[in-house]
Amino acid sequence: MAIESVGVVGAGQMGNGIAHVFALAGFDVLLNDISEDSLAKALVTIDKNMDRQVSRGKITAEEKAAAQARIRTTLALPDLGQTDLIIEAATEREEVKQKIFDALLPHLKPSTILTSNTSSISITRLASRTDRPEKFMGFHFMNPVPVMQLVELIRGIATDQPTWDAMHEVVRKLGKTAASAEDFPAFIVNRILIPMINEAVYTLYEGVGSVKSIDESMKLGANHPMGPLELADFIGLDTCLAIMNVLYEGLADTKYRPCPLLTKYVEAGWLGRKSGRGFYDYR
Ligand code: CAA
Repeated sequence: MAIESVGVVGAGQMGNGIAHVFALAGFDVLLNDISEDSLAKALVTIDKNMDRQVSRGKITAEEKAAAQARIRTTLALPDLGQTDLIIEAATEREEVKQKIFDALLPHLKPSTILTSNTSSISITRLASRTDRPEKFMGFHFMNPVPVMQLVELIRGIATDQPTWDAMHEVVRKLGKTAASAEDFPAFIVNRILIPMINEAVYTLYEGVGSVKSIDESMKLGANHPMGPLELADFIGLDTCLAIMNVLYEGLADTKYRPCPLLTKYVEAGWLGRKSGRGFYDYR
């Protein structure tokens, strides 16, 4: 199962980072989204992020140019049909992901591996609705993708060993480190990280500390690179809430109840950096 080409569905924060790291690692990348505008923005972001890497001496200008030449874009999902590996990185809504897989399936080569960058949705359930549950896996990148070393590989109940091995090899070629996870709600990173963020929101909600003191405590007291509330804004408060709900429903334990203040912020449209306002003001 030699994987040389990848189709990335979704050119947002995660999708453009995934296209970036695959292109730098020598894979041919076909990036898909539903609007020209999103694709154009993704190419600008990739250019900017690769420039950072050039200016810090992480890659050369030639490596940047070669990687950019390996990225093509398309608005047509069927164009991804001939790639060896599909990485779905669309909005974290199950019905959206389902529609994408339904639209892709008739066009795929039999050997193509299907993966989802979902941060919490059941891999087994997504896989069961495709024609190839044994060639389906979770492939979960961390944000910012070009910087974070870890990738979670999540095994659905039907994932076969050749697919599992092929994906570990892909992660090795990306120069990243794989963490193997079984398919339970939110896998490993988000099972631990998002309840910590939710607890930070409770700490604010109950008046134990201010936004500043909570974030400073965890930065200076626990050596976290970002405080939990700053990190929540970075991830997106809607995404944090969606993951808490998956944990709450999937594990049926009240210790995962989302903080009412987190729900209120999301209802207000205060989603963090992407909307200009969350626990901090970015306007
Ligand atoms: N692309 C390429 N390089 C980037 C980048 C990007 N998007 N963003 C930052 N960088 C690089 C910078 O160029 C810099 O490189 P050097 O080390 O070579 O100098 C390095 O990353 C650090 O960046 P900065 O100096 O600008 O800023 P910083 O030191 O404050 O670090 C950070 C920024 C890397 C984001 C850091 O704050 C951090 O690690 N934060 C925590 C991030 C985290 O926890 N991510 C996981 C979120 S959970 C998740 O993603 C899973 C989910 O499903 C929700």
